Amino acid sequence: MEQLSSIEAWRNYANDQRAFGHAVALVPTMGALHDGHASLFRAARASGDVVIATIFVNPRQFGSAADLKSYPRTPHEDAVVAKENGVDCLVEPSLEEMWPDYPNSTSTTVSVHGIGDSLEGADRPGHFDGVASVVAKLFAVTGPCHAYFGEKDFQQLAVVRQMVRDLALPVEIIGCPIVRDPDGLAISSRNGQLSANGREQALAISRALRAVDAPATPSTLRRRMREVLEDAHVQTAYVEIVQPTTFVVAHDGDEGEFRALIAGIVEGVRLIDNAPVTLSSREA
Ligand code: PAJ
Repeated sequence: MEQLSSIEAWRNYANDQRAFGHAVALVPTMGALHDGHASLFRAARASGDVVIATIFVNPRQFGSAADLKSYPRTPHEDAVVAKENGVDCLVEPSLEEMWPDYPNSTSTTVSVHGIGDSLEGADRPGHFDGVASVVAKLFAVTGPCHAYFGEKDFQQLAVVRQMVRDLALPVEIIGCPIVRDPDGLAISSRNGQLSANGREQALAISRALRAVDAPATPSTLRRRMREVLEDAHVQTAYVEIVQPTTFVVAHDGDEGEFRALIAGIVEGVRLIDNAPVTLSSREA
């Protein structure tokens, strides 16, 4: 596995691969790699593309300096996970390489309005501007044919898809299923901050999503999810059902495939999860 850090070497590597006739797949991450990330590497590998993974803890998508500082960093373990799961080239650019002027005058920002304004976007102002801006730059340097993102961050995936459509970026976005621990908890680098009790409490989030697997109206489904979360005393930032590509909130009378999304806060740790739901205008 190649390991690079400068934009120049990374761009040259991608250019060379394309010159050899290979399609390039990109898997952007912030490191602290776990089975969720590994599933994206394996999906990219299985497509037959040359796989470039990036690790960059992007300060522009963090709300507070404390959150950024406490973000886990495990570079040695990350290289092993990447190598074992089929990454051909692991790129870890420095902050100076990615945002040379940060925190002053980083003047170009990509904003995806509409989809990026609600839920995570409303609770974390500027978050999706930071995500869209860094993903646009990762695409610009890599020139991937395909880019892999997890459905774990379902709104992020929708923001990236909208950006690609609006700017006609020549990349196909591939969404991959959420990887869960055997107890149902969606794997996240934040899970390590939970105590044993906190983890038990956090399981109510995936349980709430499993409680809405039968078609019903959105108000019924929201109520069911809230009941499960309240029983477990889980504080929530939102419990919502939206149209999966536009993120327009579902109303009673809507029918078909929608997405339920939950942001819960357990022991001060923000946990997000989501699942497909079927809406029916009549109660089950
Ligand atoms: P990060 O949180 O490291 O996640 C990188 C990718 O892994 C994202 O596409 C995310 O959805 C996916 N992922 C995380 N946990 C997963 C799980 N349990 N199952 C499936 N996929 C999972 O998301 C980011 O980094 C950043 O915002 C980034 C896109 C890299 C831009 O900075």
